[in-house]
Amino acid sequence: MKVLVTGGAGFIGSNFIFYMREKHPDYELVCLDKLTYAGNLETLEAVMDEPGFQFVRADIADREAVYTVFEAEKPDIVVNFAAESHVDRSIENPSVFLETNVMGTQVLLDACRKYGIQRYHQVSTDEVYGDLPLDRPDLFFTEETPLHTSSPYSASKASADLLCHAYYRTYELPVTISRCSNNYGPYQFPEKLIPLMIANALADKPLPVYGEGLNVRDWLYVEDHCAAIDLILEKGQVGRVYNVGGHNEMRNIDIVRRILSILGKPESLIDHVTDRKGHDMRYAIDPSRIHGELGWLPETRFDDGIQKTVGWYLEHCAWWKNIINGDYQDYYERMYSGR
Ligand code: NAD
Ligand code: TYD
Repeated sequence: MKVLVTGGAGFIGSNFIFYMREKHPDYELVCLDKLTYAGNLETLEAVMDEPGFQFVRADIADREAVYTVFEAEKPDIVVNFAAESHVDRSIENPSVFLETNVMGTQVLLDACRKYGIQRYHQVSTDEVYGDLPLDRPDLFFTEETPLHTSSPYSASKASADLLCHAYYRTYELPVTISRCSNNYGPYQFPEKLIPLMIANALADKPLPVYGEGLNVRDWLYVEDHCAAIDLILEKGQVGRVYNVGGHNEMRNIDIVRRILSILGKPESLIDHVTDRKGHDMRYAIDPSRIHGELGWLPETRFDDGIQKTVGWYLEHCAWWKNIINGDYQDYYERMYSGR
């Protein structure tokens, strides 16, 4: 079995590559990644020269480049992680989100039609459902919840999902889609909430909490997400959407306090800053389908996962310091100074 993993030099894609190499050592993996600001070859160092693994630098929206890879590699399975993934950047500049997340997905789907595959899996997000009110804890996103997006990021991901479904319905392309809640764990780019707060706390810098910090996210350890995708590839029904989440809703402020407490840093570092535009209030997944049909359950409790994650960032300072010492500084200034 040969699996093409797009976006495999990013956070979840790299964790998926490590997961698949353990779980299916006989599979060949080809990672296709453009290496945007979020892609990092250092992350893949451990597998780079190993047999059964290949890296190709390419843009999923570059039709010629993608067709060349399909022609040469003839993958059996494609798992598409490649995306612009940060909501705040999408608010700043939506265009690249449409190019990569929508047009790039279309190019991959066309390549799958042209060269033939056993499965195309689209890695999507719960953000396509919009948000839930804080005062209705009884409400959850199911696969039937209407798509109702808030940010250019989520709008681009929802568009890609619709396109995937259209290719299934119209061309009978064997597509599956997973919509996962917020992930955390090793190798997450430091612009996202958890690694940003760890990095700032370690440097005794202010921790910028948007608004009151009452927004709720449903956090899942990245390895549990990888396991869910692997299960969908093996047993999932073609044409189907699977929500992935572990009923682990937490307010941002409580996540930030937890990180400070693990690191032994004072809560006085918390800095409430101007809220994100269009900020979604609450995400909460109903995972009944993937549990009932495929038997998936998350294995990592948040208490363990957050300890492991903080521990990982402590042990891998060089990995994230390389990032935050580069172009990231301009981004941070732009996004946070005087906010
Ligand atoms: P990330 O930003 O860490 O990584 C994205 C990767 O895609 C990078 O390696 C980048 O170089 C690559 N990439 C970007 N544009 C590309 C292009 N045009 N061609 C080829 N490669 C390109 O993102 P992530 O957090 O690992 O997210 C991966 C996927 O999972 C995304 O599709 C995202 O929407 C989805 N998702 C993420 C979360 C989360 O909490 N992080 C939750 C649910 C779903
Ligand atoms: P993020 O990690 O960007 O994921 P998403 O927006 O896709 O859920 O943000 C998670 C939550 O944390 C979100 O409600 C925004 C908030 N947040 C902050 O309060 N401060 C920050 O500096 C960042 C990056 C996020």
